[in-house]
Amino acid sequence: MNRIGKLFLYTSISALLFSSCKPDPGFEPKPANTDNSVSFNVPQGWPAPYYSFANNKLTNEGFALGRKLFYDPRLSLDNTISCGSCHQQAGAFIQIGHQFSHGVGDINGTRNSPPLFNLAWSTSFFWDGGVNNLESQPINPIQNPIEMKESIGDVVAELQGDATYISMFKAAFGDGTINSQRIFKALAQFMGVMVSADSRFDKYKRNVAGATLTTQELSGYEVYKANCSRCHTEPLFTDYNFRNNGLVPDPYINDSGRAHITRAMQDMYQFKTPSLRNLGYTAPYMHDGRFQTLDEVLDHYAKGIHKSPTLDSSLVNGIQLSSEQRADLLAFLNTLNDEGFVKNSIYAEVK
Ligand code: HEC
Ligand code: HEC
Repeated sequence: MNRIGKLFLYTSISALLFSSCKPDPGFEPKPANTDNSVSFNVPQGWPAPYYSFANNKLTNEGFALGRKLFYDPRLSLDNTISCGSCHQQAGAFIQIGHQFSHGVGDINGTRNSPPLFNLAWSTSFFWDGGVNNLESQPINPIQNPIEMKESIGDVVAELQGDATYISMFKAAFGDGTINSQRIFKALAQFMGVMVSADSRFDKYKRNVAGATLTTQELSGYEVYKANCSRCHTEPLFTDYNFRNNGLVPDPYINDSGRAHITRAMQDMYQFKTPSLRNLGYTAPYMHDGRFQTLDEVLDHYAKGIHKSPTLDSSLVNGIQLSSEQRADLLAFLNTLNDEGFVKNSIYAEVK
């Protein structure tokens, strides 16, 4: 990356991190950032990430390459769909306005595009956890016939004919060789750095001066702790486990969830618990995007629970909240939206 690019990257990171103009020990760039590097920091109080950059050294150049690949429609068969088509930053990387993901040839999938953030902590990927490593994840959408429908061999061949890519691979990996492993490593650098930990709630937790929660939001936090935290566990607001939260199976799709991977009856209709972060940007909700609003989600937990042998035992009687508790909970959930993340220019397409 040239100097101006580096400066731009650095400035935008600092702009994000110092936007509160206060030293915030939880989420500041490493002091070593004098070399203008993109950094990956574990926010204060968070567990160690599951993904390690030890075998995929994070560099500005690797990150920039991953970002270019993420937004490049040449990764799809007819050069129309990029990763960024189904994962849009303004929606915390969901596909905005789509219940089901929408890929090459106008074909709809059967699952809602999940948001992408804090992937470095995720122990598995996809609603059914079918992939367990961030670096082996991208092969799936690229080769999936209803997503990008391309072969990785063709992608490699196409990029090998592009002088800009040759120089970017050289800058990232030391020589201009383009192969699938390097493509996946670069994408993992870009996606691994997508950390969302700067919501109003996070700032409150880190005692950033001026970051407060209202009495209503604090009551909502208690409602959350009593009713939701078992599965949507802090600080990531998920424990990444698979569970059946009582959705009636869609009769046409009949998505078996985790059992699709394990073929085990006890995993029927279990899905990976999603995070409660950034819900303000990620509607519609659930693996099939069946609910448009958080009110509908809470209606489901109150009176829509479908009983089946694999229903999580804690949900047998649903979750009953008074109207006040519900309003408080919704107010609390709203504090988990991280505007800095969806607007951070380091994740945006460079045109
Ligand atoms: C046609 C739309 C579409 C395209 C294109 C697409 N994705 Fe996705 N992505 C999805 C859907 C849908 C899922 C959930 C799939 C499932 O659960 O079976 C998903 C899941 C993911 C996940 C897992 C997230 C999690 O929390 O489990 C990651 C990471 C991801 N995509 C990255 C990418 C990358 C990188 C590319 C480009 C190489 C890409 N996607 C292209 C629709 C798409
Ligand atoms: C027993 C575990 C469990 C409990 C308790 C629970 N959830 Fe969930 N939640 C899940 C699972 C699993 C999913 C994903 C289900 C699916 O898509 O099939 C989910 C999905 C969601 C979604 C959709 C998120 C998205 O990105 O699509 C929201 C919102 C949500 N839950 C909110 C809550 C709230 C609020 C509470 C407390 C009132 C709660 N949940 C309690 C397990 C749980």
